[in-house]
Amino acid sequence: RQIVQVTSSGENFLTGGQMKNLKVITAKPDDGLSVVADKTGTIVAIGYDSEIRTKFRNTAFERTVDASDLCILPGFVDAHTHPVWAGDRVHEFRMKLAGATYMSIHNAGGGIHYTVEHTRRASEDELYRLLRDRLLRILRSGTTVVECKSGYGLNVETELKMLRVLERAKRELSSFIDISITFCGAHAIPKDMTEETATREVIEEQLPAVARSIRLGEISVDNIDVFCEKGVFELENSKKILEAGREMGFRMNFHADELYPLGSAEMGASIKAEAMSHLEQISEKAIQEMAKNHCVGIILPTTVYILRLEPPPVRKMIEAGVPIALGSDFNPNAFCLSMPMVMHLACMLCRMSLEEALVASTLNAACSLGLSSKYGSIEVGKKADLVLLDAPTWEHIVYQFGEHDHLIQMVVKNGFVA
Ligand code: NIG
Ligand code: FE
Repeated sequence: RQIVQVTSSGENFLTGGQMKNLKVITAKPDDGLSVVADKTGTIVAIGYDSEIRTKFRNTAFERTVDASDLCILPGFVDAHTHPVWAGDRVHEFRMKLAGATYMSIHNAGGGIHYTVEHTRRASEDELYRLLRDRLLRILRSGTTVVECKSGYGLNVETELKMLRVLERAKRELSSFIDISITFCGAHAIPKDMTEETATREVIEEQLPAVARSIRLGEISVDNIDVFCEKGVFELENSKKILEAGREMGFRMNFHADELYPLGSAEMGASIKAEAMSHLEQISEKAIQEMAKNHCVGIILPTTVYILRLEPPPVRKMIEAGVPIALGSDFNPNAFCLSMPMVMHLACMLCRMSLEEALVASTLNAACSLGLSSKYGSIEVGKKADLVLLDAPTWEHIVYQFGEHDHLIQMVVKNGFVA
């Protein structure tokens, strides 16, 4: 029925003013639509069947997928997840419903600390099984590229265990989903440490161990993350950790200004972080600085919803020209694996338009990970990562909330049905 194309105009991301680059091609009653990929899974042609037939009249296609009566969207890109952990936190969900706050649970030794205890105890194989199951659920909701963080180890041993589990998934599941791996050893201050000693532990113990493991070919890391928050890692130490990660060649992509207006986003823009997440408490000045530095704002509406936070000023950010991406923030606090659900929440809670939510879940999310030349839009030269939707028009994937299982008929990863 439709092919929803996002065309980048020089920039590899779109801001509000560039939304006209989202192009919807609609089939005609007597002329359908096709996407053609080569052997490497790269898109070589997009268009009406009549044109495709002429162009490829001398080519015998090796495989064809019948997408009659389906809409074709780019595979979703989830810009922020914490998917490696054992032990759920449903009991804390109950506590929050009864009035407890995220930070009161955290400061009482629950929250991230609870998950760290369970993740330290879990075997590598158990963590892999849990991760694999979650990634396949993520794939079924249309996501073909996902950012995944470590951060429930908070020591060398368990952080490396998590990174190895992610590396195994990256290799073994590469025909289903691509993974951008983030080291987030600075996710909380371990119970027996201060902010100072924890910062030293991350920089002097964890990062060198990560470097060693990378050299041995055991793991790979793309981004560095810090939970930059009042009472966790504050500005000065977050900056030190991020800069130590940058020295190792990682992209800076961190949790900023979620619960308290600490000035994290201003700090992040000043060190030219590629992306920052949350931003509920972002300052006016940081909005301007992020726009100037092309720093991607990753918005996480599931957390806004589950913690009943004031939503981030997304409209102001879009108007200022900040590229906005979306992530599920899947973690034991916000148990959501579905980008269609995230898009719905982004429209409802953050007042994003349907087009903005789609671009934020595809091209801009890919851009936040430095992957927009390969993923995030249906364009010639990019990977054939596609979501095939049984709906009259593409907007139904956002409109029919919670219905992605019924709507998504097929996910194509790198030219193959996944
Ligand atoms: O992005 N805010 C810090 N990190 C996660 C939550 C992790 C957890 O509570 O386990 C987030 O919301
Ligand atoms: Fe997070």
